[in-house]
Amino acid sequence: MTDDISASAGTPAPEATLAPQDTPNPAADDDPEALLRVDQVRKHFPIRRGVFFKRQVGAVKAVDGVSFTLRRGDTLGLVGESGCGKSTIGRVITKLHEPTAGSIRFDGRELAHLNVSQMRPIRRDIQMIFQDPFSSLNPRHTIGTIVGAPFKIQGTKTEHGIKAEVQALLERVGLNPEHYNRYPHEFSGGQRQRIGVARAIALRPKLIVCDEPVSALDVSIQAQVVNLLEDLQSEYDLAYIFVAHDLSVVRHISDRVAVMYLGKLMELAERDVLYGAPLHPYTHALMSAVPTPDPAKEAKRPRILLKGDLPSPINPPPGCVFHTRCPKYRDQLSESDQERCRTVVPPFELKAAGHFAACHFPEVRRDIVAPDATNVAVSAATATPPPSAD
Ligand SMILES: Nc1ncnc2c1ncn2[C@@H]1O[C@H](COP(=O)(O)OP(=O)(O)OP(=O)(O)O)[C@@H](O)[C@H]1O
Ligand code: SF4
Ligand SMILES: [Mg+2]
Repeated sequence: MTDDISASAGTPAPEATLAPQDTPNPAADDDPEALLRVDQVRKHFPIRRGVFFKRQVGAVKAVDGVSFTLRRGDTLGLVGESGCGKSTIGRVITKLHEPTAGSIRFDGRELAHLNVSQMRPIRRDIQMIFQDPFSSLNPRHTIGTIVGAPFKIQGTKTEHGIKAEVQALLERVGLNPEHYNRYPHEFSGGQRQRIGVARAIALRPKLIVCDEPVSALDVSIQAQVVNLLEDLQSEYDLAYIFVAHDLSVVRHISDRVAVMYLGKLMELAERDVLYGAPLHPYTHALMSAVPTPDPAKEAKRPRILLKGDLPSPINPPPGCVFHTRCPKYRDQLSESDQERCRTVVPPFELKAAGHFAACHFPEVRRDIVAPDATNVAVSAATATPPPSAD
């Protein structure tokens, strides 16, 4: 069952929210709760040739005009195929990469053009957790040194000394504070990710970019780390950008979810809206690719197959970047509509209340069976293990 939004003008709308609203830039909304406002951000990595002059001959358009807002204490999930630019946008927000263009307003302050020393006091408020708990911790440092480093770098005074602070942090994330002098290789993958979490929360940040924080972990350990992150979020009013491939985990943890493709956002909405009534053909395909555990549902649900690989971000397709793989373009559109997709970039705009999409022909599809969040929710009963249990 589908509701074609583009065709709904003039006919009774299936629901009140379907009329497209012309908002060229969703980041322009003046949400007083917004902690982070990302506005038309681009990150193009130059490709250079030549031995002496290193001429720029092109660019990898890893992030190409991304806009969104994030409220204090909220979680924005970010999903999309490998190579679509998820990590790059995370690294741009944390200023591990300089943006090529665009604005990043954090807590009322523009970050895009700040240099390293201007960023230093702000770094305490924005932290990152990385996917690989093995390579993200220096193997030559004890966990006491690793988790205590943010205090030293920022010159932060602690009431009872750094060691006591670090031990309290270790305990808070479910590790044994007595293991302060141990090295990363003495811990399991889940424990190492807890060390990464302790380091990230050390200075009580307002925002943590979590770049696939559980993708490298076993499912049972994933649930423990996700639930630890949720506990910490409510305790410290943290906002998260949560990058993941697993749509069940994203559904569990996110307030809103953004779908990314080839450096651009395709769709963004409240979690239940995105999973219950996705609008964009790319989101339909992503959701439909995840098998459901219910055989009856599995037999009836449509499977939308994406053919071909992600195009190169060096030379993205013109018009809608998704048109070379879009099943709707391929199977349903007229020649003139296809021409529109090939030549006109669909703006990322409000299609319904709080629901953004970049598609000329969006449609609500309720027949897509989205993955549910039970994987994590069921395992949540075992969320907080005794120190060093995993
Ligand atoms: N430092 C860099 N120099 C040049 N190209 C880069 C650089 N970092 C990333 N890229 C390219 O930018 C694009 C986006 O990469 P990114 O790592 O952000 O994707 P991703 O969505 O995080 O993928 P994955 O899901 O595999 O982690 C890719 O084509 C990647 O090769
Ligand atoms: S604009 Fe056209 S090609 Fe792009 S997602 Fe929509 S229907 Fe598909
Ligand atoms: Mg990545």
